[in-house]
Amino acid sequence: MKAVQFNEYGGPEVLRVVEVDEPHAGPGQVRIAVRAAGVNGIDWKIRAGHLRQMIPLSLPAGIGMDASGVVDEVGAGVDDVAVGDAVFGAGAATYAEFAVLSAWAKKPAALGFEEAAGYPIPVETAARILRQVGVLPGETLVVSGASGGVGSAVLQLARAQGITVIATASARNHAYLRSLGAIPTTYEAGLVARVRALAPRGIDAALDLAGSGVIADLIELTGKPAKVLSIADFTAPAQGAQVSAQTTDADRRVALAAAARLFTEGALRIPVEWTYALAAAGEAQVASAAGHVRGRLVIRVAAPASEARTTTLDPGAGYVTIINTYVVAPERAEALLEMLVRATEETLRQVPGFVSANFHLNLDRTRLVNYAQWQSREAIAAAGTDPRVAARIREAGEIADSFTPVLYELRSSVRAPDA
Ligand SMILES: NC(=O)c1ccc[n+]([C@@H]2O[C@H](COP(=O)([O-])OP(=O)(O)OC[C@H]3O[C@@H](n4cnc5c(N)ncnc54)[C@H](OP(=O)(O)O)[C@@H]3O)[C@@H](O)[C@H]2O)c1
Repeated sequence: MKAVQFNEYGGPEVLRVVEVDEPHAGPGQVRIAVRAAGVNGIDWKIRAGHLRQMIPLSLPAGIGMDASGVVDEVGAGVDDVAVGDAVFGAGAATYAEFAVLSAWAKKPAALGFEEAAGYPIPVETAARILRQVGVLPGETLVVSGASGGVGSAVLQLARAQGITVIATASARNHAYLRSLGAIPTTYEAGLVARVRALAPRGIDAALDLAGSGVIADLIELTGKPAKVLSIADFTAPAQGAQVSAQTTDADRRVALAAAARLFTEGALRIPVEWTYALAAAGEAQVASAAGHVRGRLVIRVAAPASEARTTTLDPGAGYVTIINTYVVAPERAEALLEMLVRATEETLRQVPGFVSANFHLNLDRTRLVNYAQWQSREAIAAAGTDPRVAARIREAGEIADSFTPVLYELRSSVRAPDA
């Protein structure tokens, strides 16, 4: 099977897609055919060697802890899922075609595989730190660095528990924080005064998610060091605050089941900001390390091209752009480009609702990005069942090594993957 591995600690360039033996489910585990893998901060920290004392590895090693997919092996003692069930959960070496999970929950049918892959670590961390910091319904919590994966989960779990949250992120994310029920403010200097103005009844507890040196400010706001907890600043205990890093598979399972329930009730969504192909895992980790992701980054593990197109379709109104990213061997890039240009001309003539398209081939000719505009999601959905379109997708799939479609509302900002 294909998997991302690294042979030495280092920058993103040490990650390689290699052929390795498939893993197998041991007792109490399941194996999944991975559909998508979540990208967590811990992934790049492990790859860079920052955690080699805490998490010793024998290299070469796989990477990734979160994933969604379809169960294809069930270990001894597992009786809550069967082969063929769609699940999401936590395990090891999940940037791969197959991965073993040690904690999982069944994926609600309405929750997409890509979004589900981004849930496990954030939802478990959020549940754990809300419990550990000891914040109660009716109380007020400050969350520093709240628009990432963990913050998105914290805000929604807190809202479900009746906790008022004042949350920090840059101004571009304030509408997003508001949509999750929080009162936003920025994280620049003057935090204490800004938060006090927003919370006349005072602050009961505070969480530092970004590790950006705010522990002293958060202690000033709560008045009690023990009511401040960080997940990213391990100097916090020196100031009397708490840190949290440890969990168990039992707690993960409880948190995953709760996340599935909250999603179904409409109380939890963690959006995917960007999707990467397996071969672009290094790029995903660079974006993760930069620390400004809204929601989650996920790695889409290649599915057959025709299936890839239909699984991203999401009914609803809106004028949309599909960004198709093809990963391709350099010697086939020209053939892929030619085929897509020809197919686009035919699609424009034959398929209702298709507006325009353009293509960008990166300098090393390994990634071809196609921005295709459609009048509506309905038009895309109709095209998805059109045999002419299916034939072209198949043809492209045969030339490319993988194919990652992402849907964007035209109104939202479209970021070129190579930017
Ligand atoms: N200890 C544990 O158990 C545990 C578990 C999970 C994660 N983690 C760690 O926790 C961290 C959070 O992970 P994540 O995936 O949620 O998100 P992340 O990508 O690390 O953080 C994103 C958030 O931080 C904000 N941010 C960026 N610079 C900031 C600054 N100078 N001050 C305050 N906020 C700032 C971002 O806002 P803008 O984008 O608006 O700038 C965004 O809201 C990571 O370091 C991760 O490794 C630890």
